[in-house]
Amino acid sequence: MKVVSVVGARPQFIKLSALSSRLRKYHKEIIVHTGQHYDEELSALFFKELKIPKPDYDLEVGSGSQAEQTGKMLIKLEQVLEFEKPDLVLVYGDTNSTLAGALAASKLQIPLAHIEAGMRSYTDMPEEVNRKVTDHLSQILFCPTHQSVKNLRKEGITKRVYLVGDLMYEALICNLQTAQKKSDILKKLNLNSKNFYLATIHRAENTDYRDNLVKITKILESLDRKTIFPVHPRTRKYLEERHLWNRLKKTRNLLLLDPIRYLDMLVLEQNASLILTDSGGVQREAYFLKTPCLILRETTEWIEITKTNGFMTSSLDIKKVQRNLKRLNSSRISKKQATTNSSASRKILNILNKFNG
Ligand code: UD1
Ligand code: UDP
Repeated sequence: MKVVSVVGARPQFIKLSALSSRLRKYHKEIIVHTGQHYDEELSALFFKELKIPKPDYDLEVGSGSQAEQTGKMLIKLEQVLEFEKPDLVLVYGDTNSTLAGALAASKLQIPLAHIEAGMRSYTDMPEEVNRKVTDHLSQILFCPTHQSVKNLRKEGITKRVYLVGDLMYEALICNLQTAQKKSDILKKLNLNSKNFYLATIHRAENTDYRDNLVKITKILESLDRKTIFPVHPRTRKYLEERHLWNRLKKTRNLLLLDPIRYLDMLVLEQNASLILTDSGGVQREAYFLKTPCLILRETTEWIEITKTNGFMTSSLDIKKVQRNLKRLNSSRISKKQATTNSSASRKILNILNKFNG
């Protein structure tokens, strides 16, 4: 088949890296980068470090409001798909790039496959709209968890739904040893293993509302250990606009960094004594690496994770956060904790190889 893979944001590049080489053994792949993420440290560095083939198209859409960004992508994707006439379009996750890829393919009646189908938070976050619409337009739905299969069933989607596991896990397994060998991040930052926290924040619900961003700031100021905080550009923008950036910069225990490379991130995640995050990918990596994790959201799509000792969601109420941190710091993570298997790409390919429209 000729397959167009549509990606645009950091976590999608990582998942693409776990599938692309296997896909290319059997099919012709065209990579379309929407340009949703364009800073070198959010985009080009991932292609380089993970040896992902250079995108065939860079749509250079850039940032904008939800509709503006999605609309621009849609117009440009339609032109690419009309020209390339692929047999299948492959989209990942739940970003605006996912939604635009799904809409463009469906309107041209090109079969659509969704990786990470069926995830639901049952909230009104923008990603939930993207996921739902994409799932309802897809002909093939690759689910990462049992819960995601159940979620689809509740919405009446049962045809061509496949439980394949998590490409994020596969990427981690493929890159962890290299990361341990190559990354000098612990030395560079003068960190001792299990003696620091790692934090990432970028969800709109946490960054775009002043009250919540102030709460996040207070949480970061209150931490009892050195904390490494690679700051997503969205978060930095709002922290600066709201005059919180300089305040955080002055916080003694806190080290603000630009977004870091994937291999460095894996090493920090593995060596942190605890992770605070609202990221979908980072909470899963924490789980896979058995590093306790406080998910700074009321809910998560990855509910399996929070059923395990050492992992919990939390509101931004500072007293609750402190209580939860105390609990997590004294929790024991079972060595036998469930892991998904690391053959998602193989399963996806077995299914795609049999697909005939
Ligand atoms: C997007 C996804 C989110 C995903 C995240 C991964 C949507 C609705 N959101 O959020 O689901 O978890 O990517 O990181 O698709 N910016 C830069 N440089 C860049 C990219 C963005 O400075 O290269 C800044 C711009 O000010 C922009 C803001 O970050 O307005 C937000 O970027 P955007 O792509 O709209 O959403 P993310 O927050 O990155
Ligand atoms: N990540 C990274 N550098 C960073 C922050 C995150 O390489 O500075 C990686 C992280 O290890 C994970 C992915 O980016 O693999 C998660 O992406 P993000 O948090 O942006 O999005 P989400 O998963 O929430 O959609």
